[in-house]
Amino acid sequence: MKKQRLVVVGGGSTYTIGMIMSLIEEKAHFPLKSITFYDTSAERQEKIAKAAEVILKDKYPELESFHYTTDKEEAFTNMDFAFVQIRTGGLAMREKDEQIPLRHGVVGQETCGPGGMAYGLRSIGDMIEVVNDIRHYAPDAWILNYTNPAAIVAEALRREFPEDTKILNICDMPAAIMVSYAKILGKEIWDLVPEYFGLNHFGWFTDIFDKEGNRLTDDIKNAITKEGFLPEDSEIVNDPSWIKTFKQVETMLHDFPDYLPNTYLQYYLYPGDMTAKEDISNTRARQVINGREKRVHELSDTLTANQTTEGADLEVDIHGCYMIRVAASLAYNTRDTFIVIVENNGIISNMPSDAMVEVPAALSSDGPKPFAVGEIPRFNKGLMEGQLAFEQLVVDGYYENSYNKLLQALTLNRTVVDAPTARAVLDDLIEANEGYWPELR
Ligand code: NAD
Ligand code: G6P
Ligand code: MN
Repeated sequence: MKKQRLVVVGGGSTYTIGMIMSLIEEKAHFPLKSITFYDTSAERQEKIAKAAEVILKDKYPELESFHYTTDKEEAFTNMDFAFVQIRTGGLAMREKDEQIPLRHGVVGQETCGPGGMAYGLRSIGDMIEVVNDIRHYAPDAWILNYTNPAAIVAEALRREFPEDTKILNICDMPAAIMVSYAKILGKEIWDLVPEYFGLNHFGWFTDIFDKEGNRLTDDIKNAITKEGFLPEDSEIVNDPSWIKTFKQVETMLHDFPDYLPNTYLQYYLYPGDMTAKEDISNTRARQVINGREKRVHELSDTLTANQTTEGADLEVDIHGCYMIRVAASLAYNTRDTFIVIVENNGIISNMPSDAMVEVPAALSSDGPKPFAVGEIPRFNKGLMEGQLAFEQLVVDGYYENSYNKLLQALTLNRTVVDAPTARAVLDDLIEANEGYWPELR
């Protein structure tokens, strides 16, 4: 098995330590020659990197090299894989994305509705630069992107790099949901084969099978109806906000029993409830700053001070393992099935061919080979068409510097609907995002 050279773009991310633990856990599936971190913030990255060094020394002694840099050439030259996890504007801007819509009585969420639009318009430029830089120094590297909002980023990268067949956008939410299905069924996530369609953060499991071909969908639905639904992945299992979100699946399944919903549909199907339950001074960004970020930074400082992993609370989560198994399937042509984001091209036969859709695909060394979904029902199609138009209008707005396109996008988003509200939210977001967004006309 060829050993891979990996660069993690956004080395200072709160997910990096978890990713390192997953790389260790998965080393038999995805053996590494070297790991490099790249970040635009030397300081943010160094804190994490120093801790990663301690972990790798203890648990990955056969790794030939680990280093971190803010130099693009050093970071990208000769890489086989780039995992991209950047956040333009940081968690401080995430907080504004969540608070500004809420002030207007609208859902304030990182990737959905106005917050997702704001984050998307910040991410696109940086993501295009990152891909250009990687391609300059590593023309053949696989670029696995999970930078959010993945739907909008994927659409922009599709337009910017139409010929590039080695960029793959991925989300961990379907996998995190499958971890909970596996728990219900008393199985491992890797034993399950999903049938799924949608857009990113906007889709449904139509069926779940095991590897022997047994259909387990009704077992899962019955269990959720009787006992509710909870997060099980280590990263979110004890998080009150994620527990609430998973519980909402029971309501969604009660109202729309045909398919098992992605948790993110709650923002589009119950925008009123989602807005009402928020505390504007403690939105998700604040919870992450006081929660995951604080925890990861403290853990890193302790590891660096002690120079050992002994006694450290280090966990493997599905986020890292999923990305790594995706990478392994591409690298070694194992053609395992994963839910990924790809251009539709007829997969969902009654959706536009240029839509970036989220569907299961066999991942080969020649890229994702998605399975046909066929025609989807009117309800799901109607919802998806509105959301797709929103995503595409946001990207149009970016390329055309168009205020009108962004106003149209927000007006047709299910979390907004009312045109005067859309305008008021947009005007506040423009002010808050000065220097991050393109100039609008
Ligand atoms: P974070 O702010 O902690 O980490 C992001 C890092 O990226 C920071 O260290 C920052 O300095 C760095 N960065 C910012 N712009 C950069 C650039 N242009 N080039 C290189 N580095 C840059 O954020 P986080 O909460 O850890 O999340 C990281 C990203 O992963 C976010 O985009 C988040 O939405 C995404 N994410 C996606 C999924 C998914 O399902 N697709 C799951 C988890 C996280
Ligand atoms: C899920 C989604 C990601 C998102 C994350 C946010 O994993 O799939 O796209 O980044 O949740 O989680 P947080 O705990 O930061 O709100
Ligand atoms: Mn996601």
